Amino acid sequence: MATSFILIAWMILALLMTFGTFVPQVEAARAFFVFGDSLVDNGNNNYLATTARADSPPYGIDYPTHRPTGRFSNGRNIPDFISEQLGAESILPYLSPQLTGQRLLVGANFASAGIGILNDTGIQFINIIQMFRQFEYFQEYQNRVTAVIGAQQTKQLVNKALILITVGGNDFVNNYYLVPYSARSRQYSLPDYVKFVISEYKKLLMRLYDLGARRVLVTGTGPLGCVPAELAQRSRNGECSAELQRAASLFNPQLEQMLKQLNSQFGSDVFVGANTQLMHNDFISNPQAYGFTNSKIACCGQGPYNGLGLCTVASNLCPNRDLYAFWDPFHPSEKANGIIVQQFMTSGSTKYMYPMNLSTIMALDSRI
Ligand SMILES: *[C@@H]1O[C@H](CO)[C@@H](O)[C@H](O)[C@H]1NC(C)=O
Ligand SMILES: *[C@@H]1O[C@H](CO)[C@@H](O)[C@H](O)[C@H]1NC(C)=O
Repeated sequence: MATSFILIAWMILALLMTFGTFVPQVEAARAFFVFGDSLVDNGNNNYLATTARADSPPYGIDYPTHRPTGRFSNGRNIPDFISEQLGAESILPYLSPQLTGQRLLVGANFASAGIGILNDTGIQFINIIQMFRQFEYFQEYQNRVTAVIGAQQTKQLVNKALILITVGGNDFVNNYYLVPYSARSRQYSLPDYVKFVISEYKKLLMRLYDLGARRVLVTGTGPLGCVPAELAQRSRNGECSAELQRAASLFNPQLEQMLKQLNSQFGSDVFVGANTQLMHNDFISNPQAYGFTNSKIACCGQGPYNGLGLCTVASNLCPNRDLYAFWDPFHPSEKANGIIVQQFMTSGSTKYMYPMNLSTIMALDSRI
């Protein structure tokens, strides 16, 4: 009698777990965490003594407040568009003093412009938050949230969160290719360097898993050789730099392989890859299809392709930012960021999103 009662209780529990969506849930939007470099930094570097910053005009000119925020964009960046898809407000930089209390539960952005996978990437920017340090802050964040909602709930919040990591471009642009005969380029041939960087990246992603990450969107590098900064330095007739394109073409497929290997190791699709090189290439080879008149010249900058130096108040500034794929010598415009996130969401091809697109993931995860 007692045994069969327990059996039935277990069956009910199993049913509830299987059909968990039918249990009414009073939950806020899913938490969102961001790690990486300037493509996704939304203001951490404002709080640091570094030269890698975007806290003066005309940065932010098209942001809702029309003021610079620390985002390397004329307006919103990739994390902002993802937050929008999650139905949540934009997350705050981890170093923001406003990130306290309930706001902690929405998530946090740990990214820092200038950093790379390797610790020695971006050292010229002096005071930036290297990847290992971003993860230390993530641990600290979890301790702070534990004080608000307890350990069990904190673990759930992190396990169920969506995480974005964008890093790697600087390991080429601001390390291997920063100067001719850089230390890393004397140490490694390009193919060996890529292998080394990928193996270090794998360690970072395993650390992120240890910290509780269970759904991580990992972007590859963009078309490194085609950014206005590289065109200005390396291009004669507007062709992309072959050397940097070779770096991206070696890096991105190996990243995809590494993510697949991690997923089979963990027995679950924890890591979702986005081939940002291909997405971005589409703008460059066919700008008109995306409403851009220009995909080589930065909107804000100076010199050839507006690709030299920084975007400052003294730079050339295009009147209509939406017509440019690049806002400054390195970073996509707000319009381009929006299109990239749209491609994360809807791409039907595993060439762009593997093993699946972000809409599919969000639908799957909402059922857990
Ligand atoms: C980066 O530095 C941290 C702290 O010194 C160290 O723990 C980590 O192993 C380093 N990572 C690499 C890739 O050298
Ligand atoms: C996402 O991917 C799936 C499967 O590949 C596809 O059926 C769907 O059309 C894509 N787009 C959206 C918005 O779900």
